[in-house]
Amino acid sequence: MSHAPAKAFLRALAGETVTPPPFWLMRQAGRYLPEYREVRAGCRGFLDLCYSPDKATEVTLQPLRRYGFSAAILFSDILVVPDALGQAVAFKEGEGPKLPPIRDGKALAKLSLEGFASHLAPVFETVSRLSKAIPAETALIGFAGAPWTVATYMVEGSGSKDFIETKKLAYGQPDVFKALIDLLVQATGDYLITQIDHGAEAIQLFDSWAGVLPEDEFEKWVIAPTQRLVERLKRERPGIPVIGFPRGAGALLLPYVEKTGVDAVSLDTGVPLEWAAKMLQPKVTVQGNLDPILLITGGEAMDRAIDRILSTLGRGPFIFNLGHGILPSTPPEHVARLAERVKAWR
Ligand code: CP3
Repeated sequence: MSHAPAKAFLRALAGETVTPPPFWLMRQAGRYLPEYREVRAGCRGFLDLCYSPDKATEVTLQPLRRYGFSAAILFSDILVVPDALGQAVAFKEGEGPKLPPIRDGKALAKLSLEGFASHLAPVFETVSRLSKAIPAETALIGFAGAPWTVATYMVEGSGSKDFIETKKLAYGQPDVFKALIDLLVQATGDYLITQIDHGAEAIQLFDSWAGVLPEDEFEKWVIAPTQRLVERLKRERPGIPVIGFPRGAGALLLPYVEKTGVDAVSLDTGVPLEWAAKMLQPKVTVQGNLDPILLITGGEAMDRAIDRILSTLGRGPFIFNLGHGILPSTPPEHVARLAERVKAWR
């Protein structure tokens, strides 16, 4: 009996050095693609797209058709979790997300896991459809926001620059904030396990705002909840690899990798390559970290940066990616050039 060779992306997550490395890009589906904008124009709002399995499946597949990425990432958003907990999320055109802020125990008590799974049923349906629709060599990534990052949107009621309200709650009323984080650990675990049961083969946890916390608070609100979440996933769905993306963590990437139990860490643009090769790659698979602005710039500057990442990290367990999501003004031809360059590397 012969087994099909495992997908390159999953082999890299299992610790193998794969040459050329598997590659995908955060926010690979989105506004930089005209075919995405066309589907999006036919939706009432952004969340309608997330909750329409046929459209969400289509926009997930669009970048695969163009670029042959090694992995597809479910098209959804990290904010469907608060939405499903009863904190209604609205995306206003050009303004980013808006939520009624949660800043005390009373507001928190109104959230509930009742109806959570049924609210997210369309997302699970998208995962099922994708697992049948993607090419055999392509892996399917499920995802969620990590508890800290999702909590910042829930407490601020929008995006933020300084996170004053979230930090005031976390530092000043840690019992209330802990109750919010605990709810998110539970809800996010349920959400990811159901994604896995519908066909997700790996999980990425987006902790986009991990980098704004001082060390002791990083330990409490980034490392500890992530560790509990990973522990539950490993216990209940063994064999499913987890990628953590604690953006901006800097030197705290080391305790993050040592304590959370993630199989891989996604590196933001600021992480020095030689440091990552020496300090992180012996412990976990690394993913990253081209500056998304170099993908807008293109040409020689982009090529040189791609080559430096490949030659520094490509000799160990590695997945090529950006250091943060693709921006809407990215020329699609530059993504094609990047894909060709990574695929041709030996
Ligand atoms: O990577 C993918 O292709 C999968 C889809 C995906 C989206 N958001 C689609 C999206 C993923 C994985 C996310 C994660 C996400 N969402 C994060 C973590 C990663 C990161 O970027 O730091 C965060 C913080 C969010 C929250 C969010 N969603 C914000 C702040 C915004 C508004 C800002 C913006 O870019 O417009 C969104 C909207 C959003 N999520 C869009 C897309 C394609 C654009 C909305 C549109 O098409 O109108």
